[in-house]
Amino acid sequence: VGLPQATRDEIHRRNRELYDDTFDPLWDRVVYRSVHAGWEFVNLGGRFLLEEFARVAQPTASRSVLELCSGPGAACRYLAERHGCHVTGVEMNAGQLAQARKRLQAAHPLVADRVRFVEADALEWRTDESFDAGLCLDSAMLVADVPALLATARAALRPGAPFLLSAVAAGPRIDDEVQRFAWESDGMISLLAPEAYAERLRDAGFVDVGRRDLTALAIRSSERMQRALRASRAEIVAARGAEAWECWHQAGELYLSALRDRRLAYALLVAA
Ligand SMILES: C[S@@+](CC[C@H](N)C(=O)[O-])C[C@H]1O[C@@H](n2cnc3c(N)ncnc32)[C@H](O)[C@@H]1O
Repeated sequence: VGLPQATRDEIHRRNRELYDDTFDPLWDRVVYRSVHAGWEFVNLGGRFLLEEFARVAQPTASRSVLELCSGPGAACRYLAERHGCHVTGVEMNAGQLAQARKRLQAAHPLVADRVRFVEADALEWRTDESFDAGLCLDSAMLVADVPALLATARAALRPGAPFLLSAVAAGPRIDDEVQRFAWESDGMISLLAPEAYAERLRDAGFVDVGRRDLTALAIRSSERMQRALRASRAEIVAARGAEAWECWHQAGELYLSALRDRRLAYALLVAA
C-alpha cells in the first residue's frame, strides 16, 4: 500500500487544522477524562507509556529528558511531577505550545521549574545539550520524514541513552481505505509497519531495538472514547451540530474496526 504524498506546506496546514484546538471542553470530556483520568495526553497509551518510559529510563531528579512533538506538554509535566526529572518538550504547533506554557504557569513551582518548551520543527531542531533519555509519543506517523525525526533524537541524546517511541502503525492487513482515511482525517502520512519503525531506528544508529504490540491497549482507549462520545451526544450536537458528532463517531468506529481486524496496529519501540 503506497503512503500518501504531500508537500511540507500541506503537512503544516494539516497540522494546524488538527492541532490548533485540542483544548475544547469536548476534548476534555471525550478524550482526557474518559481515557487519561484528566491528563491532557493526545495519545492512545497514556500513563502506561510514561510508566514504561520511567521503568527503562529511571528519570530521577538528576536526569534530563527530551520529548519530541510534545503537544499540550502533559507528558512533560507528568514526568517532572511524578519522577522529578528535567524535561524539554519540542513542538511546532504554536497553539499547542501556548496552552502547554499556560498550563505550566499554573503547575506547582517545582514542576514548572523542571519543564521547558521549545517551538521548533522536530525534523530540523538541533541543540548543544545532550539528554539522558528521550521519547516521542504518537507523533512519528504524522511526519513525512521519519529518518529526520530519528536523526534529531539521535543527535540530542547522549550515547547509550534510552529512547521510547509509540506510534499508530500499519497492521498486517492495512489497505488503501484506512491508509487514505488516516491521512485525510488525522494527518498520518507515515503509517509504517512496526518492523519498519524498528528498521528506521536501527538505520538512525539506535541499538537494542525492542518492539511491543500495544494494539489491545489502543482498542481499549478507543472503546472508552466511543462510549464517552455516545454519552456526550446531546452536548456535542448542541455545540457543533449533528453532522460534527456523526463525523467524529464514524471516524472512531472506523479506527476501532481497523485496529480490531489488524489493518492498523499500535506499536511501542524502545531502543538505546
Ligand atoms: C498526536 S499529538 C501527540 C502529543 C504528545 N506527544 C502527547 O502524547 O500528548 C502529535 C503532536 O506532534 C506535533 N508535531 C507533528 N509534527 C511535528 C514536527 N515536525 N515537529 C514538532 N512537532 C510536531 C503536533 O503538532 C502535535 O502536537
